[in-house]
Amino acid sequence: MSTVIVAGGAGYIGSHAIRELQKGGFDPVVLDNLVYGHRTIVEDVLGVPLVIGQVGDKQLLEKLLSGEHPSTRGKDIKGIMHFAAYAYVGESVINPAKYYKNNLAETIMLLEALLEDAKKKNSQPIPVVFSSTCAIYGMPLETDIPIVESTFQNPINPYGRSKLMIEKILIDYHNAYKLPVSILRYFNAAGADIKGDIGENHDPETHLIPLVLQALFNKEGFIKVNGIDYPTFDGTCIRDYVHVSDLAKAHVLALNKILNDKSLSIYNLGIGKGYSIMEVINVAKKVTGKEIKIIKSKRRPGDPPVLISSPEKAKKELLWKPEFLDLESILRTAWNWYLFKEKTKSKKHINVP
Ligand SMILES: NC(=O)c1ccc[n+]([C@@H]2O[C@H](COP(=O)([O-])OP(=O)(O)OC[C@H]3O[C@@H](n4cnc5c(N)ncnc54)[C@H](O)[C@@H]3O)[C@@H](O)[C@H]2O)c1
Repeated sequence: MSTVIVAGGAGYIGSHAIRELQKGGFDPVVLDNLVYGHRTIVEDVLGVPLVIGQVGDKQLLEKLLSGEHPSTRGKDIKGIMHFAAYAYVGESVINPAKYYKNNLAETIMLLEALLEDAKKKNSQPIPVVFSSTCAIYGMPLETDIPIVESTFQNPINPYGRSKLMIEKILIDYHNAYKLPVSILRYFNAAGADIKGDIGENHDPETHLIPLVLQALFNKEGFIKVNGIDYPTFDGTCIRDYVHVSDLAKAHVLALNKILNDKSLSIYNLGIGKGYSIMEVINVAKKVTGKEIKIIKSKRRPGDPPVLISSPEKAKKELLWKPEFLDLESILRTAWNWYLFKEKTKSKKHINVP
């Protein structure tokens, strides 16, 4: 069986990618420092080996790649999916060093290990599927919507810049060292696996859908709507919500592509449709059957009014077919996971690093 190292696999999107890798006949091994990841999800729910460490620990990586490490002994490592990053935009503005060290410098060390491994094996470096983000587009103009891969890239915070810098490095490494690369720019990842046993569990949570669901259970619970005067149909920001399992499927398709053709490719991953914050809240009310208090607040600096992808390139080249094409079906899976998480939290099953 082909083994794939999943860096950051104990996190939200990485854990869903593991499930799709398993369905696709791959054998995932997780590398995660567990700063934000969940050990039980990897070991108990997904049943996958977990190596606790930094993605930029070159020596550890070399051991994993060469099979000297117990978790990869006798295994044939075919590729790496790289989810490992910090992704709090606000924090990246206050503490950019944390983001450039963890996201950028660690990735350079990971790439060093891949090049070293290729040199030892006298072969091409193994393929990398990289988690990028729509944050690299910064504040697109109205005329740029829907956003295609060639849309002007001008990130407005250190998080987005760290991701764009990595993209440029990956392109240079492809050109110079024949590194097979697929760069996947996600829009807003949302929802949870249909089985309901893995899902979004960030701490702190900053994403809209889990915050809305949390607000239902919190006594003084309310959801703050940041900005009601945007130039959109209801004044609130519009985003493209893509189901996390659809994202995960795109990763397996992208990996198979670069395993075969050793190419460089870049894809936007969204559903190509946008929903406003108020629409998300209203659909959440419908799905949960509960009322949600809203507090109207000022705009946050740097929030673009509208971010909607064009996913046509991924559909055409990867034959990617996202299955969750409406907000209600995405929210139903998020709600299902939320109920499971609340039930099992009391049994100390989830969130134990
Ligand atoms: N969630 C989204 O909507 C979204 C959108 C666009 C891009 N992304 C990107 O997708 C990736 C995954 O996002 P997520 O929402 O699953 O985040 P997450 O925090 O749930 O997962 C990231 C995982 O990486 C681990 N990690 C972080 N730095 C590490 C390091 N140096 N070494 C080893 N492990 C490390 C964390 O412990 C965590 O388990 C990130 O790269 C993020 O920037 C996410």
